[in-house]
Amino acid sequence: MYSLLFYSLLSAAAGVAIDKRTDVPAGYVAAPYYPAPHGGWVSDWSESYRKASLLVQNMTLAEKTNLTAGTGIFMGRCVGNTGSALRVGIPQLCLQDGPLGVRNTDHNTAFPAGITVGATWDKTLMRARGVAIGEEFRGKGINVHLGPSVGPLGRKPRGGRNWEGFGADPVLQAFGGALTVEGVQSVGVIATIKHLIANEQEQYRMYSLVQPGISSNLDDRTLHELYLWPFAEGVRSGVGSVMIAYNAVNGSACSQNSYLINNILKDELGFQGFVMSDWLAQVSGVSSTLAGLDMSMPGDIHTVPLATGSSYWMYEYSRSILNGSIPVDRLNDAVTRILASYLKLGQDRNYPRPNFDSNTQDAEGPLYPGALISPSGIVNEFVDVQANHAKTAKEVARDAITLLKNVNNSLPLSKNASLKIFGTDAEKTSDGINSCADQGCNKGTLGMGWGSGSARYPYLNSPIDGFKTRGANYTFYNTDSFPSNSNPAATDTAVVFVNADAGENYITVDGNPGDRTNANLNLWHNGDKLIKDVAAKYSNVVVVVHTVGQVLLEEWIDLPSVQAVLFAHLPGQEAGDSLMEVLYGDVSPSGHLPYTIPTSESNYPESVGLRGFEIGQPQDTFTEGLYIDYRHFNKAGIKPRYAFGHGLSYTTFSFSSPTITPVTKLTAVPPTRPAKGSTPSYPTTIPPASEAYWPDNFDRIWRYLYSWLDKTDADNAAKDASSSTKYPYPAGYSNVQKAGPAAGGAQGGNPALFDTAYDISVTITNTGSRSGKAVAQLYLQYPTGIAFDTPIIQLRDFAKTDELAAGKTQTVKMRLTRKDMSVWDVVKQNWIVPNVSGDYGVWIGESSDKLGWRCGTAAAKCASATSPV
Ligand SMILES: *[C@@H]1O[C@H](CO)[C@@H](O)[C@H](O)[C@H]1NC(C)=O
Ligand SMILES: *[C@@H]1O[C@H](CO)[C@@H](O)[C@H](O)[C@H]1NC(C)=O
Ligand SMILES: *[C@@H]1O[C@H](CO)[C@@H](O)[C@H](O)[C@H]1NC(C)=O
Ligand SMILES: *[C@@H]1O[C@H](CO)[C@@H](O)[C@H](O)[C@H]1NC(C)=O
Ligand SMILES: *[C@@H]1O[C@H](CO)[C@@H](O)[C@H](O)[C@H]1NC(C)=O
Ligand SMILES: *[C@@H]1O[C@H](CO)[C@@H](O)[C@H](O)[C@H]1NC(C)=O
Ligand SMILES: *[C@@H]1O[C@H](CO)[C@@H](O)[C@H](O)[C@H]1NC(C)=O
Ligand SMILES: *[C@@H]1O[C@H](CO)[C@@H](O)[C@H](O)[C@H]1NC(C)=O
Repeated sequence: MYSLLFYSLLSAAAGVAIDKRTDVPAGYVAAPYYPAPHGGWVSDWSESYRKASLLVQNMTLAEKTNLTAGTGIFMGRCVGNTGSALRVGIPQLCLQDGPLGVRNTDHNTAFPAGITVGATWDKTLMRARGVAIGEEFRGKGINVHLGPSVGPLGRKPRGGRNWEGFGADPVLQAFGGALTVEGVQSVGVIATIKHLIANEQEQYRMYSLVQPGISSNLDDRTLHELYLWPFAEGVRSGVGSVMIAYNAVNGSACSQNSYLINNILKDELGFQGFVMSDWLAQVSGVSSTLAGLDMSMPGDIHTVPLATGSSYWMYEYSRSILNGSIPVDRLNDAVTRILASYLKLGQDRNYPRPNFDSNTQDAEGPLYPGALISPSGIVNEFVDVQANHAKTAKEVARDAITLLKNVNNSLPLSKNASLKIFGTDAEKTSDGINSCADQGCNKGTLGMGWGSGSARYPYLNSPIDGFKTRGANYTFYNTDSFPSNSNPAATDTAVVFVNADAGENYITVDGNPGDRTNANLNLWHNGDKLIKDVAAKYSNVVVVVHTVGQVLLEEWIDLPSVQAVLFAHLPGQEAGDSLMEVLYGDVSPSGHLPYTIPTSESNYPESVGLRGFEIGQPQDTFTEGLYIDYRHFNKAGIKPRYAFGHGLSYTTFSFSSPTITPVTKLTAVPPTRPAKGSTPSYPTTIPPASEAYWPDNFDRIWRYLYSWLDKTDADNAAKDASSSTKYPYPAGYSNVQKAGPAAGGAQGGNPALFDTAYDISVTITNTGSRSGKAVAQLYLQYPTGIAFDTPIIQLRDFAKTDELAAGKTQTVKMRLTRKDMSVWDVVKQNWIVPNVSGDYGVWIGESSDKLGWRCGTAAAKCASATSPV
C-alpha cells in the first residue's frame, strides 16, 4: 500500500508514472505527435483569427496566461471562470453546465435530455432545442455552454452518462451533436462538444493520488468509425470548444495525449477553437500544454486540496514561458484560439455579463465563495430566460415518446377511459422537485438523470398534472407496491409508471455510483414486480417507462394484459402534457429507439460490461471493435427484444418509389486535401520577465488563481531559460509545424469526405386512419468481397416527415457522403472507398429490422427486398 501510494504521489507530482503505461495491453500505443498545430488555417475562421491576433500581439504574458485557465473552483459565479485581460477589453469568460439547460439556476427551462432528443429522430427539433438552449445561456450571460455531450457514445448499456448524449450510434449521435452546436452557436454562445474521447464509464474515470484514470484502449479504425465520428461532425459545424475526457486512451491521459489532441483533433479534424480540460482532468503543466490543451478548468490541481491557490497553469504557465520550457508560440496559439472563438461568435459586441450564481440561490452572497474570506455583493439577478421554450421542450418530449408495443389498439385512450394509475414515477416527489442537489436521487417523476448534466426544474409538469388537466377519470395509487384496495373493474385501464436512473460518478444513488452497478439493467423501485402485480389483476395495462437507457422488459412484456408500452425517455419539465398528447391520441407517437433493447444482459459482449477495481490503472479494452449495440446483435445473430430504431405509431405508413441518384463519382482514395492556409505569426522571443510581475499594491483575493509571479520568481525563471538544464521533452517532441495528415484539410477532415456520393429519396404515405409522423432510416451495407470486415448494416442518414394526415404523402430526401461509404484504413491513414464499383446496399425502412427497400449503388436502382437482419 505504501509503495502504491508513493508511486502515485510521484506520478501526480511529476507525471512520470502517468506516462509509463505499464498496465496497458500490448499493442495499444500512445504515440507522440508534436507540436500542437497552430489554429487559423481554415478560411471560415480567418477573419476571427486576424482580429484575435491583433489583440494577442498587444497582450502581456500575464494577460495571456490569465485567459487559459480558470481562477479556481468556486472563485466566481459560473462553474468555470477564466481570468480576464481587461486592458484589451476581454472580460472573464463564464463557462457553465450543462447539455439540457443552464445548471444551478432559476427561471430556466429543464429541457428533455439528449437521449430523448435522439429518440425524436427529428433534425429540425434537434436544432430548435439547440437554439432555445443557446438563448437561455446567453440570457444568463454565459459565454461557453458545456454541451452537447456526444461521448459516451453508449457502448456500455450501464454507463452512467449515456443519457446526456443522443444514442448508441455514431451517426445519430453526430446529427444530435452537430445540430445542437449549430443551434447554440447561432445565438452567439460558444458550444463545447464533449468528452473527447471514449469516456464510456463513470467509475475510475479520474486520475487520483492512488490510481490513474481508467484507460480506454481502442484501435484506430474503431476510434474513427465510431467514437470520433460525432466529434468530426461537431467540428465540421464550427464548434468553438472541445472538452477533453477524464480517462486515458491507450494509457495516456486524454488531457495530455498529444496524438489525440494535436494529431487527431487539431490536425486531422482541423479543429480551430480551443481545447479545455474536463473539471480537474488536467494532470500536468508543461506536458499538457505541449500536448495541445488550451484551457484548464476550473484551474485547480485535483490531487491537492482544492481552492488553495494551486494550479498547473496561471502563474506556473507564466513561469514555464519565461524559463523557456513552453515555446512562446504555444501560448500565443492557445490564446488566439480562445479569442478567435470569442470573436467568431460575436461576443465582443453587447454580450451580457453573468447575472446568476451557480453557488447559491440567494440574491446576495460571497463573490468568491472558494476564498473563504470574500467580498459580498449581488450574485443572482433571477433573470427569466425561459421565453417560449417550454413549447420546444414539450415538442421534443412528445415526439420522442416511443411506442414499443400496442396490442389491440389499446392506445390511444378514449377520453372517458376509467384509469387506475400506479407508481411513484407518475407524480412529483413531495420532497420537492429540486430537493436533491444535481438531481442526485430518484424520487417521483424521472425527467433527467443526475450529475453536472442536470438542471433545476422551474416546475415539473408531471403525468398526474397532465391527467388532471385533461379531466381524466382516474384514481392514482402513489406507491410502488401494488395496493390491495384498487378494486379492478373490467372496463379499467391500468397505467403503470416505472423508471431507471443513472448519472455522474460524484453522486451515488441507491448504490449506483453513476453507472448502473447495483440496478443493473432492471427497473428501479421493484418496477417489474409492480407491473406484474398490476397485470395479474387488470386485463388492460399500459406501461410508461422513464429511463436513461436500456432496461430489461422480459419479466412482463409478453403478459397478455400488458397491452401497451411507451418509453418516454427523460422528458424534462414537460413530462405530463407531452405524454397526454400521445396517450389520448392528439398526436401519434413518433419516437424511435436510439439504442437496442436486449432480452438479457448476456446478449452483450463481455467487453462492454463495466470494469471494476484494479490495482494500478484500470484497463478497458474495446475488443468488440465496431460491434456495439445493433452492430453486435446483427453480427452475433441475436434477436433483441426491440431493435435499434424501432417505434410504432397509431397509424401505418408505406414507403414507396425510392430513388438513388449518383452525384459525385467516387475514387478509392479521396481527392488530395487542400493545403493549410496561413496562421497568425508572432515574435517567438521570450517576453521580458516584467510582463509577469505582480502589479504594485494589487489587492489579492486569498487563494484565487492569478497569472503573476513574484519579481524574484519571474527573474529566476528568465535566468533558467539560458541555463544548461533543459526541460525533458517527451520522445518525438518537435517545434516545427507540420503540413497535416492526408485525411485533414478543413473542419471535420478532408472536405472531399463530405461530397455527396448519392442522393436518395423515398415517398412515405400515411396508409392508416390517424395522422402521424414517420421516420425514414437509411442503413448502408458494404459490398461483398471487400478487404474490410464491416458491420452488416450501419445507419447513415434519416429523415422525419411532417405531420401527415391519413392518406397524405411526403417525399423525404437523404444522402450518402463519400465518408459514409468509406472505411478508415489504418495503414493508409485515410478514408478509403473499399470498392468504387462495388454494389453497396442502401437499405431504407422504419427501423433497423424493418428495411423493406434496397437501393443498389452499382445499378443505381431500388427494389423491394427482405430486411437484411
Ligand atoms: C491506440 O493504439 C492503437 C493500437 O496500436 C492505435 O491503432 C491507435 O491509433 C491508438 N490510439 C491513440 C489515440 O493513440
Ligand atoms: C494595441 O496597442 C496599441 C498601442 O497601445 C493601440 O494603439 C492599438 O489600438 C492596440 N490594438 C488593439 C487591437 O488593441
Ligand atoms: C486576471 O484576471 C483577474 C480576474 O479577472 C484580474 O483580477 C487580473 O487583473 C487579471 N490579470 C491580468 C494580468 O490582467
Ligand atoms: C519551467 O517552469 C515549469 C513550471 O514550473 C517547470 O515545470 C519546468 O520544469 C521549468 N523548466 C526548467 C527548465 O526549469
Ligand atoms: C384483442 O381484443 C379481442 C376482443 O376484445 C380479444 O378477444 C383478444 O384476446 C385481444 N387480443 C389481445 C392480444 O389482447
Ligand atoms: C366511453 O364511451 C364510449 C362511447 O361513448 C363507451 O362505449 C365506452 O364504454 C366508455 N368507456 C368507459 C370506460 O366508460
Ligand atoms: C369514472 O369511471 C368509473 C368506472 O368506470 C365510472 O363508474 C364513473 O362513472 C366514471 N366517472 C366519470 C365522471 O366519468
Ligand atoms: C468490386 O465490385 C465489382 C462489382 O460488383 C466486382 O466485379 C469486383 O470484383 C469487385 N472488386 C473487388 C476487389 O472486390
